[in-house]
Amino acid sequence: MNSIKIFCPASVANLSCGFDILGLCLESIGDEMIITKIEEKKIIIKINSEYDLTENPQKNAAGISVIKMLEFLNFNECGFRIQIDKKIKPGSGIGSSAASSAGSVFGVNKLLGNPLTKKQLIQFALEGEKICSDTAHADNISPLIYGGITIVRDNKTLDIIRINTSNSLFISIIHPQIEIKTKDSRKLIKRKVDFSEAIQQSANLAGLITGLFHDDYDLIKRSCNDLLIEPYRSVLIPEFDKLKRIAYSNNSIGFGISGSGPSMFSLTKNFEDAICIEKEIQKHYERKRILVKYYISKINNEGVKVII
Ligand code: HSE
Repeated sequence: MNSIKIFCPASVANLSCGFDILGLCLESIGDEMIITKIEEKKIIIKINSEYDLTENPQKNAAGISVIKMLEFLNFNECGFRIQIDKKIKPGSGIGSSAASSAGSVFGVNKLLGNPLTKKQLIQFALEGEKICSDTAHADNISPLIYGGITIVRDNKTLDIIRINTSNSLFISIIHPQIEIKTKDSRKLIKRKVDFSEAIQQSANLAGLITGLFHDDYDLIKRSCNDLLIEPYRSVLIPEFDKLKRIAYSNNSIGFGISGSGPSMFSLTKNFEDAICIEKEIQKHYERKRILVKYYISKINNEGVKVII
């Protein structure tokens, strides 16, 4: 096999109370990537996109992840041309850099006959996250490599747990057309937290994970509450509190910031509720003259995958 085409999905990190821990892989939003072996022993990045992204392999998330992976494998028999059809807007909060990093290491690994484990793929994909957001957090990458919803139990040892859900949820992504850089939005977070809030946040996270495991929608709804991060980041997102009220009054069972924003997510039990929330949010943003894109997706249990 000399060439491979892959789908690199978008993802929702944090899922409200699971900051840097939880991540969910989306099904209907993502980039496409074609990776081809080339004789020249180098990495060539070609990007097809309306967004301004570097094709310098040392500075591009897809490029640097593969460079580090090939160094580790001591592989120099050929090079790779990575052509990215970038559909996920950088700075949108749905894992644009993670899609590039996870996609490129997954694809090159396949072309080399799968020498690396999933954990190693995450390790090298983190190199892409590092150059894009200054920190190497695995919450966006893990669900792309494992599929579904994942817990990063330890970011250093990459102790990742996959949550088995019945895949009944619909995830809406509400993306106001502004850009927030992860590194800027991380600076807003308070470094010290109140002890009682830390306890409540842990309880919420435990409840949310249990609710996801058992498809217990009431428990998901009661637990989807972020006391530590959302109050500081939500000020950057236009009409956040109002949108949250709109979603919950139209049967959302969980609403919060997707990753570092500005996108928000809403969980619903069915498609009709997701559509209803979309209409109300569109109406509200129209009144406020704020442009928004809205997507509805199921959970993607496969993660990054080969397409024809
Ligand atoms: N956990 C990360 C954050 C995800 O919230 O900063 C964004 O990449």
